[in-house]
Amino acid sequence: MAEVWLQPWGQDDLPLLEKLLGDPVMTTHLGGPETPEQILRRHQRYLHLPEDGTDQMFKIVWGPNGEGVGNVGYWRKTWRDQAVYEIGWLVLPAYQGQGVATKAAAAAIDHARQDPNYQFMHAFPSVSNPASNAICRKLGFTLIEECQVEYPPGRSMAVNDWRLELYEKRAS
Ligand SMILES: CC(C)(COP(=O)(O)OP(=O)(O)OC[C@H]1O[C@@H](n2cnc3c(N)ncnc32)[C@H](O)[C@@H]1OP(=O)(O)O)[C@@H](O)C(=O)NCCC(=O)NCCS
Repeated sequence: MAEVWLQPWGQDDLPLLEKLLGDPVMTTHLGGPETPEQILRRHQRYLHLPEDGTDQMFKIVWGPNGEGVGNVGYWRKTWRDQAVYEIGWLVLPAYQGQGVATKAAAAAIDHARQDPNYQFMHAFPSVSNPASNAICRKLGFTLIEECQVEYPPGRSMAVNDWRLELYEKRAS
C-alpha cells in the first residue's frame, strides 16, 4: 500500500471538508451532516489551530496523485475532570477499507507523542461504528466503558470510551 501522509490543514481544503461532513452517509455515526455555514466555520477554526500549538488537524494525503482523502486530528478536552486529548478521523468512502484511517491515526498519535501536553488520548466512536472501534483496538487503545456523550449539541449518543497512554507518568 502507498504511503499515507499528513499535511497541516490548509486554505484549499474546504471542498474536502464539505465532502467529509456535508454528506449524510459519511456522518451516519456523527449525528448527520453539517450545514455549509457550520462547515465553513469549522474550516476557519482548523486553519487557526496551529496558532496555540496544542490542537492539531491534518489532511490525509494518499495515492499516486497525492489526493486529500480524509482528515485526522486531536484536540484538548476535559473528561472526567482531567485534561486529555480526543482524536477523530474521517476517510472518504472511495478510499475506505484499505487501512488509510489506521495509518493516518497512527501518524497523528506519533505527532502527539513528540511533545505530549497530556498523558492520555481518548477516542469516542459510536458503539454502532465497527470500523472506528476496530481502529482503536488495532492502535492499542484500551476500552474503558460505554457511555453517553452529547454530540452534536442537544443530542445524546452512545459511544465507547477508548483510552491510549501517550507517555508513562513517573512516580514523583
Ligand atoms: C471510520 C473510517 C474513518 C474508517 O476508515 P478506513 O480507512 O476505512 O479504516 P481502515 O481501513 O484503516 O480500518 C478499518 C478497520 O475496521 C475494520 N472494519 C470495517 N468495517 C467493519 C465491520 N463492519 N466490523 C468489524 N470491523 C470492521 C476493518 O476490517 C479494518 O480493520 P482491518 O484492517 O484489521 O481489517 C471511515 O469509515 C469513515 O470515515 N467513516 C465515516 C466517518 C466516521 O464515522 N468517523 C469516525 C468518527 S469516531
